[in-house]
Amino acid sequence: MGNLSFDFTGRVALVTGAANGIGKVVAEYLAAAGARLVLVDRSEAVHELAESLPTQVLSRVQDVTDEAAVIATLQATRQRFGGLDILVNNAGIGPLDAAETMSSELWDQTQAVNLRGVFLFCREAGKTMLERGEGRIVNLASQAASVGLAGHLAYCTSKAGVLGLTRTLALEWGPRGITVNAVSPTVVETELGRYGWAGDKGERMKALIPTRRFAQPEEIVAAILYLASREAAMVNGADLRIDGGYTAI
Ligand SMILES: NC(=O)c1ccc[n+]([C@@H]2O[C@H](COP(=O)([O-])OP(=O)(O)OC[C@H]3O[C@@H](n4cnc5c(N)ncnc54)[C@H](O)[C@@H]3O)[C@@H](O)[C@H]2O)c1
Repeated sequence: MGNLSFDFTGRVALVTGAANGIGKVVAEYLAAAGARLVLVDRSEAVHELAESLPTQVLSRVQDVTDEAAVIATLQATRQRFGGLDILVNNAGIGPLDAAETMSSELWDQTQAVNLRGVFLFCREAGKTMLERGEGRIVNLASQAASVGLAGHLAYCTSKAGVLGLTRTLALEWGPRGITVNAVSPTVVETELGRYGWAGDKGERMKALIPTRRFAQPEEIVAAILYLASREAAMVNGADLRIDGGYTAI
């Protein structure tokens, strides 16, 4: 592990989609920095991760779109840890299809995981954070929130929604001690990134990114940790793009 040094001693952080990819690396760094964790994923592998971390962890296997399960997870979080300081809405899916053949099921599922799930966790975590008058929420958006990507219609739409949600919550909850921000990566070297950008398509994409490469999970985690830290108290409603300059063009 590299040196991404913010102090999260004693803080309680909930990470969704924690079993793989960016979420797993966030969990590892938060644990190493002293946070206590609530790890959520639809995959059972989240339990294995929980056991490997050097901190107190509550791991929950659930779908982020399931409202009752989200409410139950926040209740369990309060019972176990007394409250919640940090929420990282990271779970997401990135299916591919041409617009003219995309099924309504694929569309609905993408909006449900990438947008409804974020809304549900924000609403339920927000209630707890508002009681204390303090909190940090970091939502995983994407460069796809700000530019169109052919073949990624449902994904781009959902991530644009994440930015709208982030900005609006920042206005509603900023005065009450909670900051709400987004990070927007370019393609990241994870399962989701490799699926969406395999082969020639990926090489063409790299050629359009000014830094000429995809991102590593740690490069996204560095920004998430900053936005989750006490030091970022004045950053609110931001969309921090970690895209090698792709959207600067
Ligand atoms: N990898 C990229 O290229 C990239 C680029 C920009 C943004 N992002 C965003 O970053 C976030 C993390 O992506 P990643 O690359 O680490 O993905 P990943 O596929 O490697 O991991 C995603 C995790 O989320 C979990 N998950 C998916 N749907 C779920 C659901 N309904 N309920 C509970 N858990 C669920 C999966 O089981 C998995 O563990 C996503 O929101 C993604 O859209 C990724």
